[in-house]
Amino acid sequence: LEADLSAQIAAAADVAALEAIRVAALGKSGSISGLLKTLGSMSPDERKAAGPAINGLRDRVQTAIGGRKESLEAAELDARLAAERLDLTLPAPARRRGSVHPTMQVMDEMTAIFAEMGFQVAEGPDIETDFNNFTALNFPEKHPAREMHDTFFFNPGPDGERKLLRTHTSPVQVRAMKKTNEGAPAPWIAAGTEPPIRIVVPGRTYRCDSDATHTPMFHQMEGLVIDKGIHMGHLKWTLETFIARFFEVDSVVSRFRPHHFPFTEPSAEMDIGCDRSGGEIRIGAGSDWLEILGCGMVHPNVLRFCGIDPDVYQGFAFGMGIDRLAMLKYGMPDLRDMFDSDTRWLSHYGFSA
Ligand code: PHE
Repeated sequence: LEADLSAQIAAAADVAALEAIRVAALGKSGSISGLLKTLGSMSPDERKAAGPAINGLRDRVQTAIGGRKESLEAAELDARLAAERLDLTLPAPARRRGSVHPTMQVMDEMTAIFAEMGFQVAEGPDIETDFNNFTALNFPEKHPAREMHDTFFFNPGPDGERKLLRTHTSPVQVRAMKKTNEGAPAPWIAAGTEPPIRIVVPGRTYRCDSDATHTPMFHQMEGLVIDKGIHMGHLKWTLETFIARFFEVDSVVSRFRPHHFPFTEPSAEMDIGCDRSGGEIRIGAGSDWLEILGCGMVHPNVLRFCGIDPDVYQGFAFGMGIDRLAMLKYGMPDLRDMFDSDTRWLSHYGFSA
């Protein structure tokens, strides 16, 4: 029995197999336990001889199992350490890099073109006063035009003043023209300057509207030029030059359709010549028209509101949708995709920094 058990213990492949051997020998109904039970029915003489033999056998088997168990456990630990070892010389997994959103890319492209044409960049706050967004821009009090803008209004404050999310970037015209820009919450807002003024205003704008071509938040770029002797010819040249450079074409043809904005007179919508025959819109050639922006000569009332004498100074202004220009230039079909933060869309249409 002892030789047999020794062989089994030596051959046990793992701790579980060894435990099975221990139970079969030393467990309640194990082979050695069985031998120990026979001692009770022996004569004292027989017991004197057999007792130490069987107890000795049990002790030796117990010791053998203990020793085997230790070496099996050590081997298992070695195997685990080898398997789970970290190879610090392996290259780290590549980090995913962010990208520049098409709206921001196009905003930068537009700003760069206007900067070369002598415009400065001005900004204003997203939360505006009713006065700057409407009143100073010659929107009559209680005029339906205020409602036409689908404005997000805040509850009136303790002073009864009703703030709003600006519906266009035009209130920054007011901030730029007024001699003092009181209540301006940050230094990056256009400070009141003496004419001549040449600014572009990129920024977020908000209207309560949502479909394939409208989102509640979108981006506009405003332009404002105030100087002596400014007329529609300056407006036309500035915008045609900008559009041609933006779409990287030699020249564009344009058409100014009469329109109405309370803050410009005359007002117009500018269309540019394009070609839709290939499915995609191609700018710069062709016999189709594409509406691209709103513009006009700054209304004398607006100049007066801002402390500029309309008999001395004239100006033109324009406003265009940045997201829409990005969609046109880079062929994005649905405006809403732009603000879904879907990383697949962003990595497809984004620009490397
Ligand atoms: N603010 C006008 C709009 O959002 C655009 C515009 C700007 C028109 C400047 C004329 C002059 O629709």
